[in-house]
Amino acid sequence: MNKDCKQWLETKIAKLQDSENYTPEKTNEAIAKQYGLKLNDIVKLNYNENLYIPREKVIPLLKQVAEECDFRIYPQEEETLLKEKISDYLKIPVDSITIGNSSDEVMERVIRIFLDAGNNAVTFTPTFTVFKYCVQYQNANFVAVPLKNDFSIDINGMRTAFNKKSKLLYLCSPNNPTANQLKLEEIQALTEEFPGIVLVDEAYAEYADFSVVPLISRYENLIVLRTFSKAFSLAGLRLGYAVANPNLAKALDKTPAPYPVNVVSLSMGRKMLENINLVQESVKALKAERRNLINQLNQIKGVQAFDSKANFVLFNTLKSYEEVYERALQKGLVIKKLGKILVYENCLRSTVGLPEMNLKLITALKAYMEEEA
Ligand SMILES: Cc1ncc(COP(=O)(O)O)c(C=O)c1O
Repeated sequence: MNKDCKQWLETKIAKLQDSENYTPEKTNEAIAKQYGLKLNDIVKLNYNENLYIPREKVIPLLKQVAEECDFRIYPQEEETLLKEKISDYLKIPVDSITIGNSSDEVMERVIRIFLDAGNNAVTFTPTFTVFKYCVQYQNANFVAVPLKNDFSIDINGMRTAFNKKSKLLYLCSPNNPTANQLKLEEIQALTEEFPGIVLVDEAYAEYADFSVVPLISRYENLIVLRTFSKAFSLAGLRLGYAVANPNLAKALDKTPAPYPVNVVSLSMGRKMLENINLVQESVKALKAERRNLINQLNQIKGVQAFDSKANFVLFNTLKSYEEVYERALQKGLVIKKLGKILVYENCLRSTVGLPEMNLKLITALKAYMEEEA
């Protein structure tokens, strides 16, 4: 290799290696091996996946897709058909939808298109960390204003962070990890005042009280991200989308590489929408179990669980979050450790699992919290 090339390549690679990235948790297999557990003993409650739609109900749909699609050829009408179903589901025009390989991928695309190096991306903290990593990857500046201690937005603090360099505002609602939904009036006020694109991440909208999707006809700078990973139970298929006014959606759809999303994911998204009762029933069951989980967590000495409009629950403990995490892990319970969030010193997050999974968590947590130091 040419000497200049070698040096350039080394610098490039070193910069990428140094960049802050999302670090995935160990796999179930690795955890089982490390703690001497059986794979079946692992209770995965760290990624807000949705196990409320039974696999037996999804497998027949996948078989139908296998029969209907010819994987030997590039996608044909699958994307259009999916857009039509999303349009019916959200009651929005077909041309206001853009599909992607997960909502993370669509978020990354929005950032790539609208945020130039040196621009500012504004959000609040804490929020979904992937946004920050994508902004930094783009060599743009990440500006985060702390939420208030009740997890509501500090509107005035946000306003003071807006300036001529601010081109993207990210509002996660319901917010991960705090699980609360932002107020509609506040999202509207910020969308009116922000001097750039406003990206509202509604990954958990199906579990919340309302959606801001209807606002896309009113605001030309609003993009709403949605996903099939949560309420639709297709996290492994990586399917997401954004909705915006047609002008903006058209720009987002204009990817240089053709056929970005595979036919299996596109078709499975459509099948789930055609069987929307599966999704609706699972959301209803999860919401009932969410109430139980929050109540039971709050009955444990030294645990404070917060209200949730998502499919996960944030809680704070009087014992060290590192210890709580580790003790749960030893029993095969994988939850997310977060640490200090605003004034809460020892925060952890758990997906609302199936009742038997939550019971294991409650039992283990209760035993540990009641142990004398
Ligand atoms: C707020 C938020 N947005 C997006 C995602 C990821 O969604 P997807 O699987 O569509 O990339 C998550 C996943 O946890 C999330 O919490």
